Amino acid sequence: MSAPRPAVNPPNVQSYCHLFYISDSQQAQIERLQALIVQHQLPIVLNTERLHDKLTQKRRQQLSQTSSVPILVLDQKDKLSWLSDGLSVAPEWDKLQRRVVSAGRKSELLLQAAKVTADSRVIDATAGFGHDSLILASTGAQVTMLEQQPLMALLLLVEQQRMSAQPNWQKLMSRLQIVNTDALSYFATLPADMTGATKAVDVVYLDPMFPEDSYQDSKTGKGAKVGKQMQALHHLAHPPTLDEEMALLNKAQAVVADNQEGRGRVIVKRPQQAPFLSQQNPDESWHNAAVRFDGYFV
Ligand SMILES: C[S@@+](CC[C@H](N)C(=O)[O-])C[C@H]1O[C@@H](n2cnc3c(N)ncnc32)[C@H](O)[C@@H]1O
Repeated sequence: MSAPRPAVNPPNVQSYCHLFYISDSQQAQIERLQALIVQHQLPIVLNTERLHDKLTQKRRQQLSQTSSVPILVLDQKDKLSWLSDGLSVAPEWDKLQRRVVSAGRKSELLLQAAKVTADSRVIDATAGFGHDSLILASTGAQVTMLEQQPLMALLLLVEQQRMSAQPNWQKLMSRLQIVNTDALSYFATLPADMTGATKAVDVVYLDPMFPEDSYQDSKTGKGAKVGKQMQALHHLAHPPTLDEEMALLNKAQAVVADNQEGRGRVIVKRPQQAPFLSQQNPDESWHNAAVRFDGYFV
């Protein structure tokens, strides 16, 4: 019998969040946050509260233990993060600067697999913290980032807004479009004939959740450490069932099948030892010790 699934927030259900901030000078930032929620129709209700004590690690721990709703904090550096088990987690796109600048097919397995070029249109259907989207967009490609969890979508939008203020990131930021939606619903809205007004999709990228213990080193067989960001994500989203995997892969393949230039491919990220998504053999795989990218071509 399989283990019971942890309770996770069902996506697109109105979710209440508590936002703690530490200074009245952050009011303008809170207003920008509320404006993003309205503009992108995120089903999030924010309760804001000013903290009058220091945001120490102990205080973070205490805040996240005593709340039944997700907690966001605006810290001393005006950085917004989500407090999960006392740890602050957020997209940290600036930390990827070196990788993004030097990203190429030699350095990034994902780019070897996806064969993205500057004129490609890519859908990252499971955006998460957006790190893989940045690598894909580093090529000059347009990347539509789909994220089903409103809280994650909000963190992504805030990060995009924050990074857009930095001149050397502006171009890349303008190539990212963040959408809070379930990938299957989004795929259903795409025109059947993709040769119309919108450019055909060249690549659909899928990186669905895996069971937490499934990252194993191929040589040692030992579980690789799952980062704090991924650990936190397991509170919000769970791995797909086999039926969900099948639907995701089949629909993604249907989207790229409309690519008239024959460039369409679906790329799936898996832990190195994990079974193929939906148990479907890929056309080609690329791997290192920790991860594998499986390619399904049109
Ligand atoms: C493993 S994480 C992706 C990590 C991401 N590749 C990165 O670089 O940060 C999976 C993410 O996809 C989202 N997700 C899973 N299934 C989805 C679906 N059907 N539609 C949209 N988002 C989905 C989850 O909420 C989660 O945030």
